[in-house]
Amino acid sequence: MKNPAKSAPDGAPEDVNRRKLLSWLSGFGLFGSAVIAALANLIFIKPRVTYGAPNRFSIGKPEDFPPGARIALDTRRVCIVRDGDSLAAISTTCTHLGCIVAVSETGFACPCHGSHYDQDGNVTGGPAPRALSWYQLTLAPNGELVVDKDNEIEAGKYLKV
Ligand code: FES
Repeated sequence: MKNPAKSAPDGAPEDVNRRKLLSWLSGFGLFGSAVIAALANLIFIKPRVTYGAPNRFSIGKPEDFPPGARIALDTRRVCIVRDGDSLAAISTTCTHLGCIVAVSETGFACPCHGSHYDQDGNVTGGPAPRALSWYQLTLAPNGELVVDKDNEIEAGKYLKV
């Protein structure tokens, strides 16, 4: 029940002002919520993840790898092999359980469970189920060698420099 002494009659200016204020406040609240929701969705457009090391990377000039070199780049998990003017990039990730294989006299040897590979990465012993991968190796316009670990190639395909 209305108290006639404290409220204005229906349609009075005070009642209209209160309706306008409430209408404006609820409209502003809805608009603000929509803007915040839109901004929150925009944040998800750009992924906020940290990727690992890039799979395509430069390793230096061909002169850095003298003929006969078998240089393992352990942080990159790849071994650069040079035979005369032919270069190759062979994976040093063991195909058994992923340990890093070491360069040995006969090719590669895994310290974890004893797998052995020949100079081309073919399995010669141990539990490894398949040969080491060969990665595409290219010569960039600036004269640097670039390994692309996303691009496995057929074993025995060397880059001629
Ligand atoms: S991880 Fe290399 S032999 Fe098991």
